[in-house]
Amino acid sequence: MYQHIVVLTGAGISAESGLRTFRDQNGLWEDHRIEDVATPEGYARNPALVENFYNERWQQLKNPAVTPNAAHEALAQLEQAFTGKLLLVTQNVDNLHERAGSKKLLHMHGELNKGRCPRSGQTFSLHEPFGPDNGCTCCIPAQRLRPHIVWFGEIPIGMDRIHDALEECDLFIAIGTSGTVYPAAGFVDIANHHGAMTIEVNLAEADEHSMFKAHYQGSASVTLPALVQRILAGDTL
Ligand code: APR
Repeated sequence: MYQHIVVLTGAGISAESGLRTFRDQNGLWEDHRIEDVATPEGYARNPALVENFYNERWQQLKNPAVTPNAAHEALAQLEQAFTGKLLLVTQNVDNLHERAGSKKLLHMHGELNKGRCPRSGQTFSLHEPFGPDNGCTCCIPAQRLRPHIVWFGEIPIGMDRIHDALEECDLFIAIGTSGTVYPAAGFVDIANHHGAMTIEVNLAEADEHSMFKAHYQGSASVTLPALVQRILAGDTL
């Protein structure tokens, strides 16, 4: 029976809830340039373009068709039933893990539902789209709120906590991530180095150079519930 689990999720876990991934066919990076919409330089150059990109994705979260799928629900069930330590780290900025009931959750790339004051760093729940009139309430004059998103070149959130968990865990599971963006792509190396069992859940076939000790191929909404049942049954994976 495992005692300490770290789970990492990527855009693939939300694909079946209708949210686009980044690097699959029809991915977000097919029709947006990262340097224009996901860097501090792009925001400084054209804040309205960046605001539109995040306002669109924020509005999508309100679409009644966008709901947690069986994979999100399986992780919430794992957290609820598992008696050991568990940390769910997500690269995703959607709110589907929370809506499925996950609480031991860390958004390392920020959250679509929040804005941040560029001066104080204080975060605010987003109640209206980003724009020149959507200002903070912590400064005078109010500062234009920026998306509470970790852009390329910025420091991810919660890295100390994540590192501590990876060094202690005996099971690391990465779900729906292409493993192309660091530091998240390096988490499996840390877990392996500390002797953990490392599992990848992905729609795509295993990469023969993969660092993971096991690969569960298929849609997360199909493969993950079965994997969670095995973990809760005390199986050695
Ligand atoms: N079930 C499981 N895996 C899936 C599914 C599914 N239904 N659909 C897609 N996938 C997998 C794809 O095979 C791919 O490996 O999800 C992965 C999605 O990869 P990316 O689009 O690169 O998304 P992600 O890995 O989360 O990107 C990491 O890059 O652009 C930055 O900040 C952004 O957080 C993001 C980071």
